[in-house]
Amino acid sequence: MTITAIITLLLITTTTATTTTTLPSDISALKAIKSAINPSTIPSYSCLGSWNFTSDPCANPHITHFLCGFSCSSNRITQLTFDRIGYSGTLSPLISKLTQLVTIDLSENKFTGPIPMSLFTLPNLQTLILRSNSFSGSIPPSISNLKSLETIDISHNSISGTLPDSFSSLIMITRIDLSFNKLTGSIPKLPKNLLELAMKSNMLSGNLLKNSFSELAQLEVVELSENLFTGTIPGWFFLQPSLQQVNIANNGFTGIEIFKGVDSNLVAVDIGYNKIGGYLSGNFTAYPVLSSLSLRYNQLHGPIPAEYSKKTTLKRLFLDGNYLSGLPPKEFFTGKSSVSGSLGDNCLKSCPTSSQLCLKSQKPSSICQQAYGGKVKPKS
Ligand SMILES: *[C@@H]1O[C@H](CO)[C@@H](O)[C@H](O)[C@H]1NC(C)=O
Ligand SMILES: *[C@@H]1O[C@H](CO)[C@@H](O)[C@H](O)[C@H]1NC(C)=O
Repeated sequence: MTITAIITLLLITTTTATTTTTLPSDISALKAIKSAINPSTIPSYSCLGSWNFTSDPCANPHITHFLCGFSCSSNRITQLTFDRIGYSGTLSPLISKLTQLVTIDLSENKFTGPIPMSLFTLPNLQTLILRSNSFSGSIPPSISNLKSLETIDISHNSISGTLPDSFSSLIMITRIDLSFNKLTGSIPKLPKNLLELAMKSNMLSGNLLKNSFSELAQLEVVELSENLFTGTIPGWFFLQPSLQQVNIANNGFTGIEIFKGVDSNLVAVDIGYNKIGGYLSGNFTAYPVLSSLSLRYNQLHGPIPAEYSKKTTLKRLFLDGNYLSGLPPKEFFTGKSSVSGSLGDNCLKSCPTSSQLCLKSQKPSSICQQAYGGKVKPKS
């Protein structure tokens, strides 16, 4: 090859690089996405305000046009990451033409209408964040097509319907946040590499089923508070091998089974505001690193097992709002225990008000007598 030929080749290469032309179908998808948004909600200083199709989206440098809201890799759009400015409108189904998309983050805007079905065909999508919008409709079974999906956050929207069984085939997914929606039905079988599951504040119901949680060797965080779950919290639930934090407060659970968790990493458990009756088992104290436990506002009866007052890892203990009776373990009050929290609003005898654990007063004896069938006289 002659020097001239090499120079010519270089010139051609540089020329093509500076005039990178975005794949035409990606450009038309961006146009459709912008035009589905109400123009009055696109300020000139916003990312979408800078999307002016007289220039090429992926061509550098970006001086006045296409300043932000997306990323390219060579001539393809790989990320849609909108600013949180209150764009209102719908999400165009033509988003599915952006087949190289890896990340979609449209959080904290005012999108309405369904998540387009076509979005669930994007083969390379790893991150889908639509948090804090007003998306409605349901999550279709075809979500299982998103084979690369690692994170999904559609929290704070108006998603309804039941969760599809096909969820379990999302084998790359580690983080699911569908909190603050209108989901109904039970929890389907969950994908096996899940680390964090959050479905707080929906209308999910039924029992916690072994089938949903089987084989979840990495599950660390479960946030299912403010739903309509019922039945007995099964013993295996707390024994999941990687579990660290559980919040299942504000449901309709009526019972609890606690097996001793010798190898457990469980740090924090919140089961407050349910309808759990029966006696309080001391078995939670067998969890080696348990630091925070709430069973407040349930219907627990009987004594507080002394183990709770001797467990050195325990820093926060909320047992208030039950019908616990008898003398509270004195170790709580000897200055050795570092537990804070509350034992108030129970039927305990002689809870020393010098301790902040006892600041909230106990129930009136008439209520306690009624709770114990009038046979026991729990408070002198
Ligand atoms: C887009 O850019 C062109 C050239 O810079 C300009 O004339 C035009 O007014 C712009 N359009 C909008 C909608 O801002
Ligand atoms: C405490 O744990 C043991 C061993 O896991 C179990 O056999 C027992 O039933 C549990 N007791 C209560 C009251 O749950």
